[in-house]
Amino acid sequence: MNQEAKTEVNMELMKSLVVLYVEDEDDVREGIGRFLRRRFAQVDTAANGQEGLDKFKAGHYDIIVTDVRMPAMDGLEMARQIKEITEDIPVIVVTAFNETDYFLRAIDIGIDSYIKKPVNTDELFAAIYKSTRVHFQQKAIESGQKQMMSLLEQMIATLARAIEMRDPYTDGHQKRVSMLSVAIAEELGVPKEQIQGIRLAALIHDIGKIHIPAEILTRPGKLDKTEFELIKKHPITGFEVVGNIDFPWPISQIVLEHHEKWDGSGYPNGLKGEEILLDARIVCVADVVEAMASHRPYRAGLGMEAAIAEIKANSGILFDPKVVDACVRVVEKKGSECWE
Ligand SMILES: [Fe+2]
Ligand SMILES: [Fe+2]
Repeated sequence: MNQEAKTEVNMELMKSLVVLYVEDEDDVREGIGRFLRRRFAQVDTAANGQEGLDKFKAGHYDIIVTDVRMPAMDGLEMARQIKEITEDIPVIVVTAFNETDYFLRAIDIGIDSYIKKPVNTDELFAAIYKSTRVHFQQKAIESGQKQMMSLLEQMIATLARAIEMRDPYTDGHQKRVSMLSVAIAEELGVPKEQIQGIRLAALIHDIGKIHIPAEILTRPGKLDKTEFELIKKHPITGFEVVGNIDFPWPISQIVLEHHEKWDGSGYPNGLKGEEILLDARIVCVADVVEAMASHRPYRAGLGMEAAIAEIKANSGILFDPKVVDACVRVVEKKGSECWE
């Protein structure tokens, strides 16, 4: 996009702005209010900081323009309280004062711009333009990130469907493991960002089964040794399938390590204890609980109680005790709703 087109887009966005203008002097408020109304979609006014704050809380504004010295609550105090609620809305301060302490307070609060009284309307327009341009750029970046996330989610969901279509006996397994993993991670206080990765990784943790012949996957009953060896390869295959995608989370590592066991008896690499990624230790416990508790067409589910007894019995042996405790608490709180 060339510069001219960009400026036009910005001017279009400018026209759509909803402005809150706070000024106690009636003449000034009316005059500047009129000027702003000619240029922006909606302009609300308030006669002091308290009224401005109330309007801000009740409405949706793109930018605030405020006087400083006003009765009831001054403009900087109002701005401070607004910035406490959100830092996303730019605040422009109009001031007759140039005393240092006002400027220092303004900087402390994070005022985006200030202009001097008496207001020069060109200057005011330029200040609004500058502050909102940054604001719109940030919004554009955020919406791009959202779009990318939604694409990633769709891609993961498609991968998950692909494997479950071949293996209808475990249909829904990955989804339920994902939900239980998220609940365990939340119980453990894992940061939100990281939980997002755990959720997505769990949704495709068995993606490597795509490489296993459907007859083995769908055949009821015990597997022989060779067949089991083949099944054991699915974490590595899964790692290879998703390893090339540059996710912002260690998805492929979680897929690779979801059958590793706390005492080192798992596969494929026999990792031990905290050598295994926490995210994978969580998915591992959720996987075992789901697999035991849920029904399969060729066998009835053993039930949640049996599943919980199993992970408790192997806490500190096969499973990370912290994760087991968190899982037990989740199931106590939510029962089978932990994956509904
Ligand atoms: Fe698996
Ligand atoms: Fe699984």
